[in-house]
Amino acid sequence: MSFTAIEHGRPRLNRSELAVPGSRPEMFEKGARSAADIVFLDLEDSVAPDEKPKARKNIINGLREVDWGTKTVSVRINGLDTPYMYRDVIDVMEQGGERLDLIMIPKVGIPSDVYALDMLVTQVEQACGWKKQLGFELIIETAQGMANVEAIAVASRRIESLHFGVADYAASTRARTTRMGGPSPSYGVLTDATGDGGGRSFHWGDLWHYALSRLVVAARANGLRPLDGPFGDIPDAEGYRAQANRAAVLGCDGKWAIHPSQIVLANEVFTPPEVEVNQARRILLALKDAQAEGRGAVALDGRMIDLASIRQAEILVKKADEIRGRTA
Ligand code: GLV
Ligand code: MG
Repeated sequence: MSFTAIEHGRPRLNRSELAVPGSRPEMFEKGARSAADIVFLDLEDSVAPDEKPKARKNIINGLREVDWGTKTVSVRINGLDTPYMYRDVIDVMEQGGERLDLIMIPKVGIPSDVYALDMLVTQVEQACGWKKQLGFELIIETAQGMANVEAIAVASRRIESLHFGVADYAASTRARTTRMGGPSPSYGVLTDATGDGGGRSFHWGDLWHYALSRLVVAARANGLRPLDGPFGDIPDAEGYRAQANRAAVLGCDGKWAIHPSQIVLANEVFTPPEVEVNQARRILLALKDAQAEGRGAVALDGRMIDLASIRQAEILVKKADEIRGRTA
């Protein structure tokens, strides 16, 4: 382990993150009662320019009037290059009140984007006498943002999570695909013609692998949650599950749901399987027994257990307990 300890952002359950357009207030109650861990009310891309002021009002009313229970509530503001962003922050915070937990900042390009928002949010919190501190969720969805992701991850102590905004990322990098978050039939490898038997086969690859992996590393190196973004083919539950699974394998905490039907899929994929949790509990019990007996070495089923396995077991059990607490 390095002498430099990783400081962790505020822990939250974030298996699923439901997007709800600010222009559809009739969907707020449903979002509040859904099984999503986090709901974000959107002022950005799902809201047309001439609907922005109305959507802002809807969100202010929704924050004040909807019973959000223990749900984590976020608002996605417009980008720093738009004329809407300052009002999104000031009006929503001043008029919506302290129920808001997080602000989601889209298209973050450089660390100073986050610094500027931190300054604005800090001033509003101070002026309004807020007791709680808003957290930030950052969407990394441009080539510029990805090129600066490591520096962006440490731009403010408010940052809790980095999200891979695959749709805008594709546009920004001019990726030759129009699918939101799925694989592309053009991205893969063709096996060599001289291979076994001479027959050639085409193997699809994951064109988002580099970007998502880079984001996961930047997030985990700084104690933040990495999140996978949207999957656009709503009827394709199998496709969603596959994308979520590969994000979970890479280390993501969760994935967006851009339709309520995707919440259950995300919660299922990002909940650690029971067999893994049971095994982790057994590892921790073996550790406890070894400590009680003054033994330095921990063994289970005839195998030595190293410190890394113990740490992984602790993380898994903590997460499982958190989920149980939420769903009990
Ligand atoms: C999300 O905002 C995305 O662009 O994918
Ligand atoms: Mg986007």
